[in-house]
Amino acid sequence: AMPSVYITRRVPPRGLSLLQQRQMQISQWDSDAPVPQDELMKGVVGKDALFCLLTDKIDKNVIQAAGPQLKVIGTMSVGYEHIDLAECKSRGIIVGYTPDVLTDATAELTVALLLATSRRIVEGAAAVKSGEWSTWAPLWMCGPGLHGATVGVVGLGRIGMATARRLRPFGIQRLIYTGRSEKAEAKEVDAEFVSFEALLQQSDFVIATCPLNEQTKGLFNMKTFSQMKRSAIFINSSRGGVVDQDDLYTALNTRLIGAAGLDVTVPEPLPPSHPLLSLANCVVLPHIGSANNETRNTMSALTAQNIIAAVDGKALPAQLTLP
Ligand code: GLV
Ligand code: GLV
Repeated sequence: AMPSVYITRRVPPRGLSLLQQRQMQISQWDSDAPVPQDELMKGVVGKDALFCLLTDKIDKNVIQAAGPQLKVIGTMSVGYEHIDLAECKSRGIIVGYTPDVLTDATAELTVALLLATSRRIVEGAAAVKSGEWSTWAPLWMCGPGLHGATVGVVGLGRIGMATARRLRPFGIQRLIYTGRSEKAEAKEVDAEFVSFEALLQQSDFVIATCPLNEQTKGLFNMKTFSQMKRSAIFINSSRGGVVDQDDLYTALNTRLIGAAGLDVTVPEPLPPSHPLLSLANCVVLPHIGSANNETRNTMSALTAQNIIAAVDGKALPAQLTLP
């Protein structure tokens, strides 16, 4: 029989073509909006493979609903906290994901967010449109620059490294990082391993590029914001869950820190009435780290390649090691 796959959304064409070429039987939630959980539970029944996104909650119920035929879950993301990995492991389900292919796009967006926040680009553009800008003024719309700055990276993984490489040419003075362990590749960008506390105290820019897990959940809170410089700019391009957002609001509103740039929040989207969206010193983007055309197509293709390899009993190009 033809192996079957359920796809939880409209996805870029490259992955779809690969699944068609492999003659897989495709069912799909044919929409740009997320699949409702009950539809997802129905959609996966009896399928060999699941092609999902970070917006899908692949919990025990979904995996159970799929049944014993389910061999592989391919998520079109580098993050995987939306999948119950323990359940996958206990059932022998293989999990594929999309590391590496989105590293450059996400690092680029992280730098964009850093510049947008420090140089007040969003605030400035809004002032031009609203007519608030009346004249070039020596003291107006000033912010800290990157030249000479100390930049701290929390989680020097693939995206952290790629961000660091892009920041070096801006003439930053010091690059420091923290994480579970020292990284050999840090030498390449002349990054110095420091304690989390030292990083908070010394950085002009604090960049979170760590995965969301038990160790990083709520890592950025009142205690950590209090240790940062009052001029510090906090950037998050990992997951909203690493931040206590109520604390971040207080820290920004009371100028305990200078500004924040977030590509990720909890929930996504934030309701328009959310306090963070009322702040001039906070730039919030709609989780677009990997959103360049080529990257999204490549992510779609890699997800399909992972799925095809698994149903054919071959090694996956990007298989997640289950804990
Ligand atoms: C994006 O956030 C991803 O996990 O791919
Ligand atoms: C700025 O435009 C300058 O000329 O200094």
